[in-house]
Amino acid sequence: MSIAVVPGSFDPVTLGHLDVIRRAADLFDEVVVGVATNAGKAPLLDVEDRVRLIESAVAGLARVRVARVPGLLVDFCREVGATAVVKGLRSGGDYDAELPMAWMNAHLGVETLFLPATPEVAHIASSLVKDVARHGGPIDDLVPPGVASAVRARLAGEGAP
Ligand code: PNS
Repeated sequence: MSIAVVPGSFDPVTLGHLDVIRRAADLFDEVVVGVATNAGKAPLLDVEDRVRLIESAVAGLARVRVARVPGLLVDFCREVGATAVVKGLRSGGDYDAELPMAWMNAHLGVETLFLPATPEVAHIASSLVKDVARHGGPIDDLVPPGVASAVRARLAGEGAP
């Protein structure tokens, strides 16, 4: 049984993430979407909301489940029996950011497989989704159903437009 972890901060989950999760599920028997903490980013959405929104987005996908990553990604991978981490790459910038993490995770015992972003969703990044939303722009066609309203509600709670 082959198991992969698709990790990320998913703040919020986007159609780009969903594309990678779907494609990973085609390659592995089981996919665990791991909602982790990125030490370099302060999330907009609470982790419970991020998990709930991903669960709703993957509800129709067989053999995909969602879980929090409480600490190190490699420890989580061992715990769930995953032999690989799967990450999407949109650009050389993504590659530059992901490569040191992939090297470190390989050093710690888990290999990473990169999937090139599908061109139709390669422009979608969680950071840009939040920026568009902060300025009152439309994000509904960039994220799974229910996510846009959750982002807008959170921004409204912060006093943003
Ligand atoms: O979606 P992101 O923010 O690019 O995902 C990065 C993430 C959360 C996967 C990464 O920061 C991570 O793995 N965090 C868990 C803690 C950990 O294992 N850190 C060492 C990474 S080499």
